[in-house]
Amino acid sequence: MCGISGIVGFKNIAMPLLNSIRHLEYRGYDSCGVAIMSNNSIVVRKNIGSVDEVNEREKLSEPDGKIGIAHTRWATHGGVTKENTHPHLSCEGDFALVHNGIISNYSEIKKELIHGGHRFNSETDTEVIVHLIEKYFVLSKDAEKAFIRALKRLEGTYAIAMITTHEKDKIFCAKRESPLVIGLGDEINYLGSDFNAFIDYTKNAVVLDDDEYAVVSRDHYFIKKIISGEVIRKRITEINWDSDMAKKGGYPHYMLKEIYEQPQCIVNAMQVDKALIKKLSDMIMKSRHVYLIGAGTTYYVSLMSEYHFSSIAGVFTPAINSDEFKNLAYIDKDTLIIAVSQSGETYDTLNALKFAKGKGAKTAAIVNVMGSSIARLVDHTIMQGSGPEICVISTKAALSQMAILLLVALEMAVNNKRISVRNKNEIEKQISHLPELIQKVLNEKSGFIHTIANKFSHINNWLYLGRGKYYPIALESSLKMKEVAYVHAEGMPAGFLKHGTIALIDEKLYSVIFMPPRSDEELYRLTAGSAEEIKARKGFTLGFHFGEKGEGEKLFSEEIILPKAHSIIAPFLELVVAQLFAYFTAVALKRNIDKPRSLAKSVTVA
Ligand code: M6R
Repeated sequence: MCGISGIVGFKNIAMPLLNSIRHLEYRGYDSCGVAIMSNNSIVVRKNIGSVDEVNEREKLSEPDGKIGIAHTRWATHGGVTKENTHPHLSCEGDFALVHNGIISNYSEIKKELIHGGHRFNSETDTEVIVHLIEKYFVLSKDAEKAFIRALKRLEGTYAIAMITTHEKDKIFCAKRESPLVIGLGDEINYLGSDFNAFIDYTKNAVVLDDDEYAVVSRDHYFIKKIISGEVIRKRITEINWDSDMAKKGGYPHYMLKEIYEQPQCIVNAMQVDKALIKKLSDMIMKSRHVYLIGAGTTYYVSLMSEYHFSSIAGVFTPAINSDEFKNLAYIDKDTLIIAVSQSGETYDTLNALKFAKGKGAKTAAIVNVMGSSIARLVDHTIMQGSGPEICVISTKAALSQMAILLLVALEMAVNNKRISVRNKNEIEKQISHLPELIQKVLNEKSGFIHTIANKFSHINNWLYLGRGKYYPIALESSLKMKEVAYVHAEGMPAGFLKHGTIALIDEKLYSVIFMPPRSDEELYRLTAGSAEEIKARKGFTLGFHFGEKGEGEKLFSEEIILPKAHSIIAPFLELVVAQLFAYFTAVALKRNIDKPRSLAKSVTVA
């Protein structure tokens, strides 16, 4: 996820352009830059760091011009460097372009362009687009034609904005799967990844749809279909948000927005380069000892993956809390440590990795922030591509990490001859249904979950119980409740209950039961048994299950019924329900949702 903006007007636009990327910084904050048409040539100013840091060094608003584009980056291809920062220029400097998305066929286009004499300055997929346009412009001498011809060659996803010295008063833009909106002013028009880019200046906008392009000048714009060239007329949308709401895409909190981004995050997780998945699987198979490490939520992600690695691939890889790692792990040169970290900066995880490296161990990581300390330290990194997670409470990042490590487990299972490539493809097909099922839960269940959360928001103590893979889900779900709602919730294996905690059960202690689908016969039976033990002692049970309405009447005091799902993806859906349950409880209790007390997004202290 990156932020794009553009402005074309009748007076100097440099200051509003800078302001617009300040408002888009939440979409990506590795690096940023502007391209402004100044005295008939394009001036690019860019660098790594936050918008204010880059502005301090590069004076982004200094160039004088009436048209410009800007970008704030969340790196996907290529590290966090000045060269990789957008905007990118063509060889002759006559085209400048910014992009959000991933061009999947960029390597073949790059080879072709290099062969044709184009010189590249970055490792990005984006840079091929501007050179491709330049190539086609040389042939047609028509900027619009060259733009469309290049778009037709691109595979993958994009929102693109481009300016050129050949059409000094126009911004060319296009979109496929990444958002792009045109803002309409008075003798000035704007472009943005979302309304934030221009909400300080206009409330009138036109939203581009997939496979459309637009040409925007200061007093005119048109939109056409990329393939057919058909002109599209669109309704003007009036934005009635303030700028804070706009940043959250209309959601009241980042936490909710990020929960709703999860279908897309799983799509992104499934698109992680197969070679990177295979490399991690090979590293695991070659090592004598393998540990998964993480802190808080990422420890629970590690624990979930311990279950997946063991049950699917037959490889036992203990999950260890990063802060207990030194006290517990046995490390030698045949050891591999796999760290899981959203921020890539968590002190305990970083420290555990350094300790293990010092003893000659190999290291790998799943991280969300490119260029972070952990990403730079380890021997092998998988970037999860979930986009910035702004809420301190981790939701979408954790779910994506679980999905990526599940793909690694499948790869290992093939390697270990536990399943065939065909079986693996079938299971991956089931996983590919996860985005639509999460969307179904979000669309159809969140209202009911809201009601249940309101009804029970006065409860001070919860037990969260699950067996097998539902145990880490119960732990992670209970952490969500604790950290966002400040309500005590204790996660434990359902089977552990009878070994002591059952003494606490009475009508005042409430429990959430994470039921597997009936197809997981033994797990279902045993988990149901734990629910019965609680009901028999007059305890309250809230069941998350995949059965029919009323099916759990004897087992549950209340039930949240989920859509039918394959057992491989069922736990993921229950986690989404638990995230919403925690969120709505916190809303009912008027908590500080995106920044809960005493918490920080990345914990960089011991
Ligand atoms: O950035 P990391 O994933 O390494 O952070 C690890 C934990 O600090 C983090 O998951 C924490 O538990 C969050 N508050 C979870 O919502």
